[in-house]
Amino acid sequence: MPETFEPRNIIVTGGCGFIGSNFVHHVVREHPEVHVTVLDKLTYAGNPENIAGLPEDRVELVVGDICDAELLDRIVPGHDAIVHYAAESHNDNSIADPEPFVQTNVVGTFRLLEACRKHDVRYHHVSTDEVYGDLALDDPARFTEETPYKPSSPYSSSKASSDMLVRAWTRTYGIRSTISNCSNNYGPYQHIEKFIPRQITNIIDGIRPKLYGDGKNVRDWIHTEDHSSAVWTILTKGRIGETYLIGADGEKDNITVLRAILKAMGRPEDDFDWVRDRPGHDRRYAIDSTKLRTELGWQPQHTDFESGLESTIAWYREHEAWWRPAKAATEAKYAKQGQ
Ligand code: NAD
Ligand code: TYD
Repeated sequence: MPETFEPRNIIVTGGCGFIGSNFVHHVVREHPEVHVTVLDKLTYAGNPENIAGLPEDRVELVVGDICDAELLDRIVPGHDAIVHYAAESHNDNSIADPEPFVQTNVVGTFRLLEACRKHDVRYHHVSTDEVYGDLALDDPARFTEETPYKPSSPYSSSKASSDMLVRAWTRTYGIRSTISNCSNNYGPYQHIEKFIPRQITNIIDGIRPKLYGDGKNVRDWIHTEDHSSAVWTILTKGRIGETYLIGADGEKDNITVLRAILKAMGRPEDDFDWVRDRPGHDRRYAIDSTKLRTELGWQPQHTDFESGLESTIAWYREHEAWWRPAKAATEAKYAKQGQ
């Protein structure tokens, strides 16, 4: 299917975070005609190193807050699209302190929608499958674009709220928007508070990995590179006003993922600690991405989880200087929560 929208000058919010920076690398590599302005507040989760070394004539970093309407008025004109990744993104943090989640995820999205309305800019909204709540372990169903919203945590409810704002601004004001809801990502540049990099860096440091609850919770893993190609496909070929689910058929329970990490790093499979469960812990996420695959012709390319995990482990081994400064504080925060 031909591209129906050919962006030349895009803003990527949250482009110094995990998935946003992987998307910036993807665009620079795959789409040489496109210039990227990264708008990022550089919270604890944002690191300019994630986009360091990319050509200066292709990528510009603006350090600022998506909630800053005046800043948006200054930088949005002249761009033809905003791809919105910036968020507070970690469930455990949202349980400990929900306020920044409402501010950045809800108010921040509102500000961006207002800027798109004022300056007539195409908008792609990056969201999560967690807006649909969870499925039972023995339920054969998977989430589709028709599944009702039923978020469980402060994080997922703030993302669900932001999705609703996008739908309303599209219907009422005619914003040219699309929404994608993706499953759990893994790969390079993921903050070490998240499950997979936390356990990899624990093992490197001789700390036993930590498994919540009974370890049977299921996540539907996708390599972040596949998420990037899917977002580009939706931005350029997606129908305005539509939602597309992104997933790569990667359902695994947490104990299976943890044992795969232990095995790949040469540790015995029971060398981990069971820790306190997350309050309200969603049981299972599972994505049916038929719409994206059949309507827009997208296919994931990185579906070999073992090999994706191995390259991710290698990345964390080779980039200790990147994650080391955050390690002690991240583990101290978890220790306080009994996790
Ligand atoms: P992340 O926490 O690694 O990065 C978030 C980035 O946003 C950081 O660079 C941070 O500095 C920036 N940011 C935060 N608040 C900001 C603000 N007010 N103004 C400007 N910048 C701000 O997050 P991530 O895991 O890369 O997730 C990116 C997006 O993808 C989020 O919208 C998240 O909901 C969504 N998503 C994540 C996953 C996942 O598995 N991590 C899955 C599906 C969807
Ligand atoms: P996480 O990476 O926080 O992603 P999400 O909450 O968005 O799914 O967690 C993935 C799964 O791993 C989730 O079921 C919680 C679990 N988990 C652990 O068992 N131990 C840990 O140390 C962490 C951080 C998460």
